[in-house]
Amino acid sequence: MDCLVIQGGNRLRGSFPISGSKNAALPILAAAILCEGETTLRNVPDLHDVQQMCALLNRLGVSTQRTEDGALHVRVEDEMNCHAPYELVSKMRASVCVLGPLVAKRRRAQVSMPGGCAIGDRPVSLHTRGLAALGADSDLVNGDMVLKAKKLRGTEVFLGGPFGSTVTGTANVMMAATLAEGRTVIESAACEPEIVDLAEFLNKCGARIEGHGTPRMTIDGVASLHGASHSVIADRIEAGTFAIATAVTNGETTLLGARIDHLTAFVDCLRRVGVNVDKAEKGISVSSARRLEPVDLTTQPYPGFPTDLQAQTMVLLSLADGNSIITEKIFPDRFLHVGELTRMGAHLRKEGPTVIVQGVKRLVGAPVMASDLRASAALILAGLIAKGRTTVHRVYHIDRGYESIEKKLAAVGADIQRVAEAAM
Ligand code: EPU
Repeated sequence: MDCLVIQGGNRLRGSFPISGSKNAALPILAAAILCEGETTLRNVPDLHDVQQMCALLNRLGVSTQRTEDGALHVRVEDEMNCHAPYELVSKMRASVCVLGPLVAKRRRAQVSMPGGCAIGDRPVSLHTRGLAALGADSDLVNGDMVLKAKKLRGTEVFLGGPFGSTVTGTANVMMAATLAEGRTVIESAACEPEIVDLAEFLNKCGARIEGHGTPRMTIDGVASLHGASHSVIADRIEAGTFAIATAVTNGETTLLGARIDHLTAFVDCLRRVGVNVDKAEKGISVSSARRLEPVDLTTQPYPGFPTDLQAQTMVLLSLADGNSIITEKIFPDRFLHVGELTRMGAHLRKEGPTVIVQGVKRLVGAPVMASDLRASAALILAGLIAKGRTTVHRVYHIDRGYESIEKKLAAVGADIQRVAEAAM
């Protein structure tokens, strides 16, 4: 197992090439189950989660091949197997995205029910409820969700839950509805850019989806979908993570390929903190050269502040001149980074789904333990500015969602190395 060793204090200067979005690529890969013929996907990040999704697709009779130019070619070869087993689903929750495509195209889906994870309870009842509304019979057998449908029929589906809409739940119902008979209207649909990218991919394949990017989507079912070529959008969460890396080190960088319109709430927060963020010719420019102001923020469904940048923003606010308040409205227990950041000198007080962040003059290096993907990113950011050496253990979490993070950071001046644990 590897760890990352960071010597803090270097200013970052230069450009970050932003990879394709993990959370857009995963459902788009699952959507290939719906298509006849070959699909060619570009800008798919080479990440552990993507490899897991390819392994699951291979098990389901779908071939995946990456060519030298980086493109990923996906084609359904055999439709017999409809079972996504526990050993694969337990490694990656986004495996649940095969549920809708399998029941729509193969009339049967057996997908292991994902359990909770480090960021809290993660129910999937809205996914199954939405698919049941389209006409699928749903059962739970030995921990597997088993869905069967002779025919799916379009209808009105409401996907609002106690914490707002569901991103992968919207993806599942939308994918299934593309092949249902008649019109499906999804109310309280997720509006995330990753959902818009999935809808745009499906439309290229022959689907008839409208209203994506709004809470009301309309899908007119078609008889079949064909393969298509598609380039996945840039990863807004990777871009946001590197924006904070720049801000905490008083650096100056460009986030190449990143879209500022996908990060409106986050950019607004950075500007209130005093970080300069602007649209640049090829992405987003970020620089910071003065004391940071405290702010209050609440995570919300898109276009609100993204929960996937909450942990990283906590590091930034830990260095602000005063007290900030962070409230988590998507995953109220997503605070495992609080204990580890405290070990690095951050002053944090958790009260339910809220953390009060008292700004400190500096953070100090320490050995710390990654607990989930975005918490790991936060620990790396803290290491970049901490005095002395930080060792982030269990970096397999980071490899799930960030492509070559240490290489990208080292290229703009960070002192960061990947080291095998045994060599420590
Ligand atoms: N929820 C329900 N019932 C459901 C489904 C969800 O109550 O049936 C609740 C959840 O518990 C949560 C809220 O609704 O409180 C939103 O969850 P959502 O279903 O939208 O999350 P997800 O689709 O499982 C995706 C991303 C996450 C990201 C969330 C929120 C992918 C593969 N995952 O998860 O990404 O945090 O949306 O934006 O797209 C990450 O990349 O680190 C990550 C965790």
